[in-house]
Amino acid sequence: MKSYHVTTFGCQMNEHDSERMKGMLESLGYVEAPGRADADVILFNTCSIREKADNRLIGHLGEAKRLKSENPEKVVGIGGCWAQSLKDEVFDRFPFVDVAFGPGQVPKLAEFLTSDSITAQGFFEFEGFTGRLPARREREFQAWVQISVGCNCRCAYCIVPSTRGREVSRPAHELVAEAERLAADGVREVTLLGQNVNSYGRDLPVGEKVTFAELLAMIDAVDGIERIRYTSPHPQDMREDVIRAHAELRSVCEHIHLPLQSGSSRVLKRMRRTYNRERYLDRAALIREHVPDAAITTDIIVGFPGETKADFEETLEVVDEVGYDSAFTFIFSPRRGTEAAELEDQVPHGVKHERMERLVELVQRRATERAQRFVGREMEVLVEGPSRTDPSRLRGRIRHNKTVNFDGAASPGELVQVRIDSATSTTLGGEERLLARVA
Ligand code: 5AD
Ligand code: SF4
Repeated sequence: MKSYHVTTFGCQMNEHDSERMKGMLESLGYVEAPGRADADVILFNTCSIREKADNRLIGHLGEAKRLKSENPEKVVGIGGCWAQSLKDEVFDRFPFVDVAFGPGQVPKLAEFLTSDSITAQGFFEFEGFTGRLPARREREFQAWVQISVGCNCRCAYCIVPSTRGREVSRPAHELVAEAERLAADGVREVTLLGQNVNSYGRDLPVGEKVTFAELLAMIDAVDGIERIRYTSPHPQDMREDVIRAHAELRSVCEHIHLPLQSGSSRVLKRMRRTYNRERYLDRAALIREHVPDAAITTDIIVGFPGETKADFEETLEVVDEVGYDSAFTFIFSPRRGTEAAELEDQVPHGVKHERMERLVELVQRRATERAQRFVGREMEVLVEGPSRTDPSRLRGRIRHNKTVNFDGAASPGELVQVRIDSATSTTLGGEERLLARVA
């Protein structure tokens, strides 16, 4: 039997795509190998969002090169955004690579592996949704659902529009059917994925148009799906109907990830984010009005070209005012071919790092404060497995997406009630209420 090994970098969409690559390989009769050395097919699903992602990949490729020189029968493939951004250059720079393909060409991988002559080839034209391929899920009770691919935004810093192309939505009836299949297969939590989920459906043909809020309601109606998450919405398109869905639909979780990027309207304009500070704060206020207890999380970039001290202070103000439950913070990294990489007024390295430190300190302080509201409460936890720090305890997540380590006897996939007795910026601690098991 032939075997494969996949290494995944990048975002949740890439995790999803890797599950589909694995599912497709298994339908071809391949089995997963424990490590690269044992695999007949070595795959990398790559990311290009920041320079760090590139650097991590290069190290791994060195090992693949060595294995390939020891055994030329092995197939080395590079998929994902980094491959897409380099296209055929991949073969010049890494001659040991047999196949390179972008995020929309995963089906081509099967064609390549089953063809008679395996000579190096690249595939970079959109072929179809990876979401239509079979999946090999990481966890039985959680699943990704790809609702759209691509992005029509033009954020000045971002490589995604050039790697994942224009936005294309999958028809709603297909997504509902997928959710029904998943529920029948034991899935309790789905995460809807798209580069900009709340512009979902706008490209669907007349008569088939469904808004994102309507899609949430259709999936909420699927029996067996207890939790719905999604990522990521864009503040520009975040409408009241979607926010209300969090209050009104049973399975839509009390968590909204709303990328801020910057708290300065001037910087947001240069980023081409198409909203300003007031619009963002207004969205946050609307969330607090309809779902007062919701967790709000975000992405922030520091050191975008031209960001002044005053701009940065405005970002700190917004972070303080919104009170995020957590935030992903990034130092601006110029990406090849993006508008921001060409801007003259790049912020010096030292300044970026100093701002980052101040931002992280504030984010953590506010997140710790916010987390205290859970202490003393009983929260519904979806059990994921043993705790990473103490295997005698369990780990799971509450609907607000915070991780909980707790004493208990439940099994992965169960929903249990946990009494929370401690809280830090990132995790909660607690104890399972044995008599209150909900399912
Ligand atoms: N530099 C730094 N951060 C970036 N992000 C996207 N592109 C860049 C870049 N060039 C961040 C944004 C986005 C998250 C996924 O990554 O905050 O929301
Ligand atoms: Fe995901 Fe963006 Fe990285 Fe592509 S470049 S894998 S879309 S984070």
